[in-house]
Amino acid sequence: MIKLNKNFLKLQDNYLFSEVNKKMRQYKEKNPNKKIINLGIGDVTRPIPKIIVETIKMACDEMKESATFRGYGPEQGYDFLKEKIIKYDYNIRGINLDLDEVFISDGSKCDVGNIVDLFAKENIVAITDPVYPVYLDTNIIAGRNILKEEITSNSSKLKLNNIKKEGHIAFELQEDTEKNKLSGIILMPCNKENNFIPKIPSKIPDIIYLCYPNNPTGTVLNKKELKKWVDYAKENESIILFDSAYEAYITEENIPHSIYEIEGAKEVAIEFRSFSKTAGFTGLRCAYTIVPKELKREIKLEERDSSSRNNTIVSVNKIWNRRHCTKFNGVSYITQRGAEAVYCEEAQKELKENIKYYLTNAKIIKEKFVNAGFNAYGGVNSPYVWLEVPKGKTSWEFFDDILEKYGIVGTPGSGFGPNGEGYFRLTGFGKREDAESLVI
Ligand SMILES: Cc1ncc(COP(=O)(O)O)c(C=O)c1O
Repeated sequence: MIKLNKNFLKLQDNYLFSEVNKKMRQYKEKNPNKKIINLGIGDVTRPIPKIIVETIKMACDEMKESATFRGYGPEQGYDFLKEKIIKYDYNIRGINLDLDEVFISDGSKCDVGNIVDLFAKENIVAITDPVYPVYLDTNIIAGRNILKEEITSNSSKLKLNNIKKEGHIAFELQEDTEKNKLSGIILMPCNKENNFIPKIPSKIPDIIYLCYPNNPTGTVLNKKELKKWVDYAKENESIILFDSAYEAYITEENIPHSIYEIEGAKEVAIEFRSFSKTAGFTGLRCAYTIVPKELKREIKLEERDSSSRNNTIVSVNKIWNRRHCTKFNGVSYITQRGAEAVYCEEAQKELKENIKYYLTNAKIIKEKFVNAGFNAYGGVNSPYVWLEVPKGKTSWEFFDDILEKYGIVGTPGSGFGPNGEGYFRLTGFGKREDAESLVI
């Protein structure tokens, strides 16, 4: 009989946003004349600059002429786009990359999910909590469980019980009961107590997920903090998976846009970037992943696998390339032409304005809540504001409260992990009028 992957049953229901939408609908039915201010939007709302759309149209026209028609392109992406990425996203920060270190894809979500293919199950994986859920879910699907002692060693357990008690089991953790702990997930709490900076875990992780600027907390790591992780990874031969989907939102000096700004990072890190939040491509779909050729690790071959019995040094770039070519057939030519146009002066000017618009929204939202007596974080180098919920309330109770009182919708922090309990995510992706009309 067929055996399905039972790990899918360990995932929590993806109910967070559907629950938010359901509550919003119910509120509208009850209060048809009241306005809802939606600060829960996790998607861009500004249209794509005209020049990018015109370029895409031109690329479409090429498809109808036999002289310019294109079929399959290179799985890793066209050089015309990779050259622009290297020049404008990396060379300007003093980072050199070869064309074959850049892999174009249809989204960072897919890339951070697919990267799990490269690693054996027997790895300890460290993930920040709260978290962009894809990192955790894809590791659970791959058969890793959350290591129990990491849950009991901090306040997460208490928070987790709160979440469960409420009946909103947004984030039910599957605790690992196995004796052998070669494999598993360590959650690294990020909260106001540690200034949202994850502590290096007591158990050495093989794989470390870092996302900065962070979704959902909107916080960042400065160069010194990020260097600590790079040095740690070097010392312990770990690999850092660095998601910088929001790097374009960085406004402060001394905050790295790329992990490769840190010396030695090419030996330990893979970086994920996306055109989604930078250029409004959430619907078009284009992203890229950098896998430096310096990133190499040893594969220990068992006797039966190798006649020579020697271990093998493997280039991570090579095996990612193999995975990519085996499972992916490239982003469409027209989309890549659109992504190339992102780097032209006209598009850059408009895209920077869009980001400023979202950041200003975030600033207004944050200020209004702070003036009303709340503690709020993020919103400076990120479109996300991470609000502390008043003491004694869970994040879902707070959701109900501010929807009922002020017509405001946000996202309960508990949906992002046990350490998200007690917090609330607000975003600057909505309309300026909404941010300005906020009354708390
Ligand atoms: C941290 C983070 N990484 C990656 C993504 C996904 O990006 P993409 O649209 O390229 O799949 C998101 C989207 O919300 C995100 O918040």
